[in-house]
Amino acid sequence: MVRLAVVGIGKMGLSHLSILRQHPDVQSVAMCDSSGFVLDVLGKYTGLTSYRDYDRMLREEPLDGVVIATPTKAHFPMVRSAIEHGVNVFCEKPLTLSANQSMELAELARRSGLRTQVGYHNRFVAAFAEAKRLLELGAIGEVKHALAEAYGPVVLRAKASTWRGRRAEGGGALYDYAAHPLDLLTWYLGEPSAVSGTVLGNIFSVETEDEVYATLHYPKASAQLSVNWSDESYRKMSTKITLTGTLGRITVDRQECQVYLREQAICPSGYQHGWNVRYTTDLTDQVWFYVRGEEYSAELDYFVRSVAGNLRAGEPAERNSFTSAAVTDRVIERLVGDAALPTTPVSGPVALPGPRRQQEPASRVRQLRSRMQDRWQRRRQTA
Ligand SMILES: NC(=O)c1ccc[n+]([C@@H]2O[C@H](COP(=O)([O-])OP(=O)(O)OC[C@H]3O[C@@H](n4cnc5c(N)ncnc54)[C@H](O)[C@@H]3O)[C@@H](O)[C@H]2O)c1
Repeated sequence: MVRLAVVGIGKMGLSHLSILRQHPDVQSVAMCDSSGFVLDVLGKYTGLTSYRDYDRMLREEPLDGVVIATPTKAHFPMVRSAIEHGVNVFCEKPLTLSANQSMELAELARRSGLRTQVGYHNRFVAAFAEAKRLLELGAIGEVKHALAEAYGPVVLRAKASTWRGRRAEGGGALYDYAAHPLDLLTWYLGEPSAVSGTVLGNIFSVETEDEVYATLHYPKASAQLSVNWSDESYRKMSTKITLTGTLGRITVDRQECQVYLREQAICPSGYQHGWNVRYTTDLTDQVWFYVRGEEYSAELDYFVRSVAGNLRAGEPAERNSFTSAAVTDRVIERLVGDAALPTTPVSGPVALPGPRRQQEPASRVRQLRSRMQDRWQRRRQTA
């Protein structure tokens, strides 16, 4: 049995706790939250040992792992402390609020040899995984462009601020929402070499953004990010990625993976030229317990099995690693910096770039000039 504690018993912590308590190989031993009220109520019904002091819990409980679901600001010290205590870590996304801190944790994790994982659950959604498989097979050729979208009804009016409305604690649509499609881009395309045109716009929030738009540049491709968490036309978060390649196109969301393959494409087994659709219901493996979506159970099951040393043959040794989450955190940080840059005004004098002329080295210019003079002199002589 893997002995686990859940830290931060809010929206995600409650979901993780309910899933883990049903896992056949998990012994949930403790929970930790800074709110005494939460602990009193849950302690009464679960019988779990509860702590308000995280470090005390790490000292007193013989834990194999912690599942950290506190507001993002608290992730860095908590993850570091767990690793220092030799405890395996599943941490909610985003890993931290600083790319440097995330890289520091990735390095600590690597040196410790502990199992570590970040809660980017979309990588456990079967349709998104199918898109990844097709990309690796080269089904749509070289990806030239991606569109990464996420919309949902999180902030629909100006309201009293929680940590979600405060940037310094990890709130705002960029860290809390856009992190998901950005992480899928990290998974599919790797790290971009540059970002530009970032817009962080407010709709209802006062201290943070509700919408994020940006362009990401890769060595051979570009991607557009479009995120809005104040869109009430959606009932729940909807994340969609479109990948356009030289041999076809993939459009994928939680529900299905639509694939168009050109005549020149080499079709993976079961696929044909033209349109193909794979539904998530056909791709998803059953889980032992369902809350909110199979992917939440699947990601925790993977963590438990990797801590227990029970990964299946052929399963990757690492999924949603700290290193990969650190890349996503670096992109997020770059977007914040890019949004602060000046934009190009449309009115007023604009210096349009002319066709670029190659600068000739002085010796080459002298050579050309004397060749022209010779030619001119010959022409005069023949005339
Ligand atoms: N993977 C996903 O789909 C997903 C969805 C929502 C949130 N999240 C992430 O999960 C994390 C938590 O989000 P949430 O929506 O559950 O937040 P929440 O506000 O609902 O819950 C946070 C809980 O942490 C407790 N807490 C705060 N500081 C603490 C501390 N120092 N020690 C112990 N407990 C503390 C709070 O009392 C609260 O109960 C965030 O990092 C967020 O980005 C992930």
